[in-house]
Amino acid sequence: MKGIILAGGTGSRLHPTTLAVSKQLLPVGDKPMIYYPLSVLMLAGVTDILIISTPHELPRMRRLFGDGAQLGLRLAYAEQEKPRGIAEAFLIGADHVGSDAVALALGDNIFHGSSFQGVLRKEAEELDGCVLFGYPVKDPQRYGVGEANASGRLVSIEEKPVRPRSNRAITGLYFYDNEVVDIARRLRPSARGELEITDINRTYMERGRARLVDLGRGFAWLDTGTPESLLQASQYVSALEERQGIRIACIEEVALRMGFINAQACYELGARLSGSGYGQYVMAIAEECTGRV
Ligand code: TTP
Repeated sequence: MKGIILAGGTGSRLHPTTLAVSKQLLPVGDKPMIYYPLSVLMLAGVTDILIISTPHELPRMRRLFGDGAQLGLRLAYAEQEKPRGIAEAFLIGADHVGSDAVALALGDNIFHGSSFQGVLRKEAEELDGCVLFGYPVKDPQRYGVGEANASGRLVSIEEKPVRPRSNRAITGLYFYDNEVVDIARRLRPSARGELEITDINRTYMERGRARLVDLGRGFAWLDTGTPESLLQASQYVSALEERQGIRIACIEEVALRMGFINAQACYELGARLSGSGYGQYVMAIAEECTGRV
């Protein structure tokens, strides 16, 4: 399975902060926001990942991650000239996807929860059509909302409904088989001039090939779109990290635990950042893994 992180957009709700720097590079806790979706794809076992961003921000993303080899990844980069919709990711990324299945992660979505790796791997391995991840929210009117039957098949999907049929918001992580590229090619822009991911999901639903997996109570799915929600996400991450002494979305640790890199390589990545608590954590994890480095 290939991966795409879509990290463009205008971030208009965060203006003026995002006038000169992209939302996905702003810090959440002690690391850039884009670390969170990257770590989710890595936990799903995906190593071949295309990062899509604006022409202005793409060089910064490249500076952050390079070709990804240091993490045992293959990272590539592509521009989205204008925010023409989430589904455009499959047109921009068509060559990258090739004949594989693909996981799309939005660059500003933060997930945290127990057994997430198991859920991700299972859904990736058993993928047949598309898998969406639903999360209960108290204000579903603001989101794409999905409804599943008892066996988890998606039976309705609506974009920002006035009267939602469920409280399951569809989160910014999507697994698709290879047909998604053809489906995206046939899409027409919506009234707001965007290629809508909901239209792709509806096509799979109408073919009876869309699943909605409930992330439920044991999970956190955090918003980062406004100054208040960004601050809350930072506070959530910092509180957990402080209390438990672990780090969420530490990509070096994920790479080590997934077997993409060895402890020595992980230690060296940490040593480059040793001026920060983050870097010291990476070094400590690597040491713990071997007993000594
Ligand atoms: P949004 O939150 O819908 O848009 P935004 O990030 O530009 O923020 P705002 O509403 O404040 O203007 O986008 C969700 C994610 O998808 C976010 O990571 C940006 C990304 N995105 C793109 O990269 N390209 C697009 O064409 C769209 C619509 C979104």
